[in-house]
Amino acid sequence: MQYGYFDDRNREYVITRPDTPLPWINYLGCQAYFGIISNTAGGYSFYRDARLRRITRYRYNNVPFDTGGRYIYLRDDETGDYWSPSWQPTHSGLEQYTCRHGMGYSVIGSQRRGIAASTRYFVPLDENLEIWQLTLSNQRLTRAALSVFSAIEFCLWDAQDDSTNFQRNFSIGEVEIEDGVIYHKTEYRERRDHFAWFACSGELAGFDTQREAFLGPARGWDRPAAVERGESYGSVAHGWAPIGSHHVRLVLDPGETRQILFVLGYQENPRDQKFDPPDSQIVNKKAARPAIARYLARENADAAFRKLRDYWNGLLGICQVNTPDIHTDRMVNVWNAYQCMATFNMSRSASFYESGIGRGLGFRDSNQDLLGFVHMAPERARERVLDLAATQLPGGGAYHQYQPLTKKGNNDVGGNFNDDPHWLILGVAAYLKETGDWSILGEPVQYDNQPGSEQPLYEHLQRSIGYTLERLGPHGLPLIGRADWNDCLNLNCFSDTPGQSFQTTTNKDGKVAESVFIGGLFVLAAKELAAIARHSGHADEAAGYLAEGARMEETVRRHGWDGEWFLRAYDDSGNKVGSRECAEGKIFIEPQGFCVLAGIGLEDGLARRALDSVRKHLATPHGIVLQQPAYSRYYLQLGEISSYPPGYKENAGIFCHNNPWVTIAEAMAGNGEGAHDYYSRINPSAREPISDVHRCEPYVYAQMIAGRDAPTHGEAKNSWLTGTAAWNYHAITQWILGIRPAYDGLRIAPVIPERWTGFRAVRRFRGVTYNVTVRRQGPGNGVTLIVDGRPVAGDVVPAPADGRTEVAVEATLG
Ligand code: GLC
Ligand code: GLC
Repeated sequence: MQYGYFDDRNREYVITRPDTPLPWINYLGCQAYFGIISNTAGGYSFYRDARLRRITRYRYNNVPFDTGGRYIYLRDDETGDYWSPSWQPTHSGLEQYTCRHGMGYSVIGSQRRGIAASTRYFVPLDENLEIWQLTLSNQRLTRAALSVFSAIEFCLWDAQDDSTNFQRNFSIGEVEIEDGVIYHKTEYRERRDHFAWFACSGELAGFDTQREAFLGPARGWDRPAAVERGESYGSVAHGWAPIGSHHVRLVLDPGETRQILFVLGYQENPRDQKFDPPDSQIVNKKAARPAIARYLARENADAAFRKLRDYWNGLLGICQVNTPDIHTDRMVNVWNAYQCMATFNMSRSASFYESGIGRGLGFRDSNQDLLGFVHMAPERARERVLDLAATQLPGGGAYHQYQPLTKKGNNDVGGNFNDDPHWLILGVAAYLKETGDWSILGEPVQYDNQPGSEQPLYEHLQRSIGYTLERLGPHGLPLIGRADWNDCLNLNCFSDTPGQSFQTTTNKDGKVAESVFIGGLFVLAAKELAAIARHSGHADEAAGYLAEGARMEETVRRHGWDGEWFLRAYDDSGNKVGSRECAEGKIFIEPQGFCVLAGIGLEDGLARRALDSVRKHLATPHGIVLQQPAYSRYYLQLGEISSYPPGYKENAGIFCHNNPWVTIAEAMAGNGEGAHDYYSRINPSAREPISDVHRCEPYVYAQMIAGRDAPTHGEAKNSWLTGTAAWNYHAITQWILGIRPAYDGLRIAPVIPERWTGFRAVRRFRGVTYNVTVRRQGPGNGVTLIVDGRPVAGDVVPAPADGRTEVAVEATLG
């Protein structure tokens, strides 16, 4: 069953009924001002940091699920009938409803009793504001007298404090209203230098800024008293809950269409120019006024919208493919790339499943996110790499997370997740392969953000490798620390007290538990660093890293192989985890995927055996589960993984993030059919027909799909912010379609299903557009290249020597 359809030409997903199984959301903004918007206009906005600069309030875990948002109410002033054109919050019957989620915008349109309303929500590029463009048209045969009300609820900036510290917060809310613009200025009188404003293009019949007045006693957003009676109260918030609501009255002739714009913005002032006049307590609005005037004019809003569309067309145009599979095309050309922008911006901070309060940017997460993002905006990727590296600790370890606003490591969680430092090497390698910008290696970067500690980025990578070499366990495998990629495999945290953190309650000395996964990751990172060293004139060091990688590979083969698959780990007692000897959790996905990805066992059949074991024990029609058998009880020595009921999250859920590792591993092993099959099982577009089972958005990946041990097998959760986005993008574009940036050019090495006769692709790479045509001539994966009519040896297309910016590549497979 479906709740909408893909409009591929317009790059939109069109939702055709408002009661989707879960809120189906979109992101507004992609630079500094962000919003989340659901298909019924729920959600909130923030500036840079979803915790510390929350502009509008949102109550998580609400009933109904998605309450609070960017609401508009319409009222028929002749009959008193009122409704929400976005369905929520009034839930009034609509004769028509569509929500079009597009690239950085959403349009929610509906009709009730002959009044059509459509609102386009977006954040213009390079601005700290959002525009709601409401178009109303009267389809009746008679005149319509209407009232329009807007409504948002302001957050008192710090989202955490806002939802807990009521004894203070109920007394601090403040607003100003000037020329019909509502200014939210809580705490501005003291230490804040920022405020929000909410403006409307229509002539105001009234306004409200106090929630209690607007809603009336004991009422919710579904029945505001002001809307019901058709008149605002003119309330001015002192304390309690400041809101922004405008009231506009208009009369529409039959067939007439009118547009009203609402603009919500964020403004910072220099500290010495906060007030106007300077000795007053009145907000200095000078800096905000030009934007208010500009975007309340329809032609400027339209121009900003066109600019946003052009921007996205440009970004997506960097890689476009045309394959025999519509789901592949749709995800690569539009939605997967789009989701990679969201994960780049949000890491794992703000979605409908991440409150924006808990986690900042994850070190390992953000490094991996680069894999799917770097080709779109390399300058921003560069900045991110340097920011991440600056939080690295002098010993080579890393803070697990950092706050986007301060860019400093988060002390609450700290470090000692022993996989973390290696992802930096993978992130930098991806950046270098895409851009060829070797200058980044010489950039001076601080450790732990300490001024004076600057060392070249290259040295940071060296310390990442050194970190593991100084932390090898009894078998010579890397010690796991608090956890590796699997945050829930906590082999040094024996936690028996409710509420304790599974990750930070470290009560074992950490000198025994080892991770085979980090072993595989280390092998890959060492190879990548060796290649980086070789290409940047450090040939000796390259040889050293290769030797370290080879040594670790030997160790993994000797102590990390269980007979039919790779082991997962050794626990604090030296017992195996992920072995046929275990009663539960005999086989795990992560080491199978990552060891093969590191190249271990590709030559001698070990890799094939590991992958066959995955197929036999872990693969389901909905994707590959994390381990089997699921843990049926809590194991003190394994930690959080066994805390989840079987089939959910890391306990044998389909943790989508690691599925593409196996996809890539299959491609590396030459199995195009198998690779694309796994790719398709979790492809959201391919799952669209089972939206009633999948339940999350069919246009983006979710972190998890319930595994076969769960009663709800196939149900997705935690959509949007997941490493799945970058890894799947990487898997399909670089390994299945095989268009893979390399240090010395663009590699074309597809490993596609046998039944595919070929595909076409356009890829912009280092300023050159490669028009790639792949044709299958025989069943194998061997590649013969003809570049601009001339044969080229090998599978790498070198950069054109003569400054051409357009290259035709014909690849024959067989
Ligand atoms: C979450 C975390 C990620 C971790 C994964 C597996 O997605 O953000 O860092 O690797 O879970 O535990
Ligand atoms: C929990 C989640 C895991 C996530 C971690 C982040 O352990 O189960 O997926 O990575 O929190 O801290």
